[in-house]
Amino acid sequence: MMYAATTERSIAMAILAIVVVAWAIYVFTNIRRSKDEVGSEVELAANRGSLDSDEKLEGSRLERVQAFGVLMLLIIALVLPIYWLREGGRRDGAERGFSERAARAGEALAEELECVVCHGADMGGANYAPVVLDIGNQFSDQESYIIKTSWRAPAINNVFTRFDTGAEKLSEVDEVRKILNYGRGVMPAWGLPGGGPLTSQEVDHIIAWLWREQLPVEEVAATARAEKEAQMAANPSKSEGQVLFEIHCARCHTPRWPGRGPATLPNGGGTVELIPGPAGSGRYGPALNKTSLERLFPDIEDQISFIALGAADDVAYGEFARLGNYGMPGFGKILTEDEIRAISMYERSLDPVEQSTVEFAELYGPGGDS
Ligand code: HEC
Ligand code: HEC
Repeated sequence: MMYAATTERSIAMAILAIVVVAWAIYVFTNIRRSKDEVGSEVELAANRGSLDSDEKLEGSRLERVQAFGVLMLLIIALVLPIYWLREGGRRDGAERGFSERAARAGEALAEELECVVCHGADMGGANYAPVVLDIGNQFSDQESYIIKTSWRAPAINNVFTRFDTGAEKLSEVDEVRKILNYGRGVMPAWGLPGGGPLTSQEVDHIIAWLWREQLPVEEVAATARAEKEAQMAANPSKSEGQVLFEIHCARCHTPRWPGRGPATLPNGGGTVELIPGPAGSGRYGPALNKTSLERLFPDIEDQISFIALGAADDVAYGEFARLGNYGMPGFGKILTEDEIRAISMYERSLDPVEQSTVEFAELYGPGGDS
């Protein structure tokens, strides 16, 4: 941090200047005067003045000096601990003030970069990012089939309930920083390391803004519960595991899931229905099915705890020690163990043969109105 010009610093500098000048004058005049005084020590020597009597020196005067000493000692003994006690709070306050300033700078950047255009004005997700997709692979007999559609963006006012779930303060955020630096799928890279426009300090500001805007975990969990209940009521034929998978997992593990629905053909050629690929056949995250999961997690309990915690960058998981990335979020903060078990059972029921009927590759171009 640069040394900013605070009021205290300006006052201190002024006092310092006055002290230095006063000292210079004092020293200067003393030298001059001592020159005048050569040979005059007999009259002017300090020890020739009249002094107090011994009685006074060793009595009341001594007491006054001692009392003064005790007073000074008391001040040191009391004020130092008080200062020390307040120091922690003062530093906390400074840190809070710092992150509040950073969050405000991040908010301004987020407005400029239009995060909320895709992620929703309230950062609650489900706004749409326009994309151009080649869905030739939706039809097994077509090589290329270009459409324009919109892509649901996830909520980001709850991102720390699934990424960086162990972070207690800003400086411990790592996964979200990587997501911002390198981008993710439809979302472009924002940080310099990924070829984006933002310096690392600007990325820090965005993170401070995200951090400030987070909803309480209980609220996020309650919203997830309400959404599950609504979906289950609307789709009585679906299992709890399937409903939860579609709400929380399909966006990364099912091809084209975030873009499902009506799409338009370029050059005004009408509309087409964008159909997601087979459930769990893989998108940003790998394919999940009976074969792959029974091999990776012979014991379903290991799958459950992996889903609760998520993957950590470069940390191995599963039977054959697959190296994690910062991709797979942890769901233990918003889903119960029973819910994660229901999803795990659903995933372990998916058929790899069905998943491999059509090969899906996602090609997206920049969105836009043109
Ligand atoms: C063009 C639309 C768009 C813009 C603009 C955008 N995002 Fe995203 N963002 C997405 C999409 C879509 C995803 C999910 C990736 C996917 O589905 O491929 C995403 C994912 C994320 C994630 C990961 C969340 C998760 O759970 O997967 C974070 C964090 C994020 N965006 C933050 C931001 C921030 C901060 C900004 C502004 C600097 C921003 N985004 C701007 C579309 C966008
Ligand atoms: C933001 C995208 C994203 C979401 C949402 C997501 N996953 Fe994942 N998942 C991944 C990625 C990426 C991996 C691979 C590990 C990594 O790179 O972190 C993965 C790996 C896995 C694995 C291990 C499989 C393997 O072969 O390695 C399982 C199991 C899994 N996810 C289950 C789930 C479940 C269940 C949910 C929903 C509750 C879910 N995922 C939601 C991205 C996601």
